[in-house]
Formats: sequence, C-alpha cells, structure tokens
Amino acid sequence: MTGEVPSVAGGDGLQANGSYGSSGDAVKVRVDRVSKHFAAVSGEGKVHVVLDELSLDIKPGEFVSLIGPSGCGKSTLLEIIAGLQASTSGDVLLDGRAITGPGPDRPVVFQEYALFPWRTVLDNVAFPLEVAKVRKTERYDQARARLEEVGLGSFADHYPSQLSGGMRQRAAIARALVRDPDVLLMDEPFGALDAITRELLQEQLRALHKLERKTIIFVTHSVPEAIRLSNRIIVMGIAPARLVGVFELAEQGEANQANFISRETAYADVRDAIWGLLREHGAIASRGT
Ligand SMILES: Nc1ncnc2c1ncn2[C@@H]1O[C@H](COP(=O)(O)OP(=O)(O)OP(=O)(O)O)[C@@H](O)[C@H]1O
Ligand SMILES: [Mg+2]
Repeated sequence: MTGEVPSVAGGDGLQANGSYGSSGDAVKVRVDRVSKHFAAVSGEGKVHVVLDELSLDIKPGEFVSLIGPSGCGKSTLLEIIAGLQASTSGDVLLDGRAITGPGPDRPVVFQEYALFPWRTVLDNVAFPLEVAKVRKTERYDQARARLEEVGLGSFADHYPSQLSGGMRQRAAIARALVRDPDVLLMDEPFGALDAITRELLQEQLRALHKLERKTIIFVTHSVPEAIRLSNRIIVMGIAPARLVGVFELAEQGEANQANFISRETAYADVRDAIWGLLREHGAIASRGT
C-alpha cells in the first residue's frame, strides 16, 4: 500500500496513526488485491476501473468504517465482501477461506429497509432461520430474543408499514443478527434516518458491538458517525478507489469519559484530518454533521 498517511496527534482517548492493516494479528476478513472493472457506458470495449488491486485486513471483533466520496466504490467493495458481486480479480478471504457467494455468516444491512412488507416483524426476523430449516418454535424464540434486544419486543406482530423508519431499520438489524453471524456488513444503515433516531441507533450498535464483539464493516458518509463507532476508519479516494488514510481509534465510550477534554481535542484532530483527506481526494455527497 502506498500513499500519504496522515499523522494526527492523539490525546489520551483517541489515537490516530497510519496503519493500513493488522500485520501480526489474526485476520477475520482479508481483501487481497481486489479489482473491479465495469464496462464503460460510452466507448466500446472501454472499462471503468472502480477498484484497483485494493488490499485490506480486518481483525476479528474490529469495527471498521469506510468513508469516502460518493461513487468511490464503497458499496462495490462491501458487496464483493458480501459475495453479492464477483471481483474482476483478487480474493476476499473470510477466516482464510475464499468467498464465492453470499452467506449467512456475513449478512448486509442496507440503507433502505429491506423487509418483506407481507410478513410481520417476527416473521421477517425469523426468515433467515426458516431458510436454515430451524424448527418453528426455536426460530420464533431466537427471533423474539433479537427483537427484545433492539427494543422491538412489543412490535413482533406488526407489519413493516406500521413501523417508523428507525424501527424498520432496527428490525433489519435484528434479522441480520438472528443467525449470530461473526461478521456484519452495513452500507449507510442510518443514512435515511432523522438525526435523533440516528444517534440512538448508533448508541445501540456501539453497545451491541461491545457486548458481542462482532466484526463490523460499516460504510458511512458521516465523519462524526465514523469516529463515534469505529476502532478504525478507512478513508477512500475516488476512481479508482484507493485507501488514502487510516485512523486507529482507541476504545470509545465510558472508559474515555475521564479524559473528556483531551478526548474532545483528539476528536477534533481526527475529524479535521479526515476532512482534509476528503477535500483532497474528491467531493463528498453529504457532510453528515
Ligand atoms: N453495475 C454497475 N455497472 C457499471 N458501473 C457501476 C455498477 N455499479 C457501480 N458502478 C460504478 O462504480 C462506481 C462505484 O459505485 P459504488 O456504488 O460502489 O460507490 P459508493 O462509494 O458506494 O457511492 P455512494 O457513496 O454514492 O453510495 C461508480 O462510478 C458507479 O457508477
Ligand atoms: Mg454506496
């Protein structure tokens, strides 16, 4: 990996450095020289290079955010990791095994609430267990437990149209978690929500990550959201997508409250450094906050 990596002074709470991978540590997801080309819309035989030999290692239990300008290839990369798209070349490995298609071990939560409108919330959340042929009582028990966790226990019999946007997204998260995957892929999952709901769901997701230590790969346009949630933030540049900066953040949350002032100082440093990279490497569609 080449490129200028920003060096940002961290306080006691947040630290930033320029590590691109996790050499020496266990690797959960390895993106190994992945390229993705599409046929160009104009110009016969021409190709549009979206990803060009991109490599990235993600550790077990790590919360990694991908942030970058609109169209830089974040969703394409996430869908290749999900197995929903094939790469043109290169591999994605999960626990050392090449990904060849979608799997229940790495569900995706999308920005739009992808629930089945004709199924109740409970039947939506239980759906992946139905596919896995889990017995009805067992799958309902597990689905109810996940619904309780996301605060939707009393909405099990509602239909998606009877829920607010935030509630639908919580149901989608419960469904993604119902088979207890090691890896959770999220593509701007809170992008369509109002600011208050968004913050509340960020808190829930952070609590869930703390409790279950799933490996989470999270695409966002919001710098504050990335800082609030991540162990590591990866800044991508545009066309073809490159990794232009990486920020390792210390553990977030209560442990940092004692260092509140220095943490805020470091937060501002990280935020400004990410914005510097985004300005340098392409316009961004929405500033988030
Ligand atoms: N099926 C496709 N055929 C041709 N080009 C595509 C296809 N899918 C994506 N692209 C192109 O790949 C590039 C990256 O798209 P992608 O959706 O990954 O961007 P993104 O970073 O997720 O953007 P956003 O932040 O707006 O969601 C874009 O230039 C897009 O036009
Ligand atoms: Mg996208």
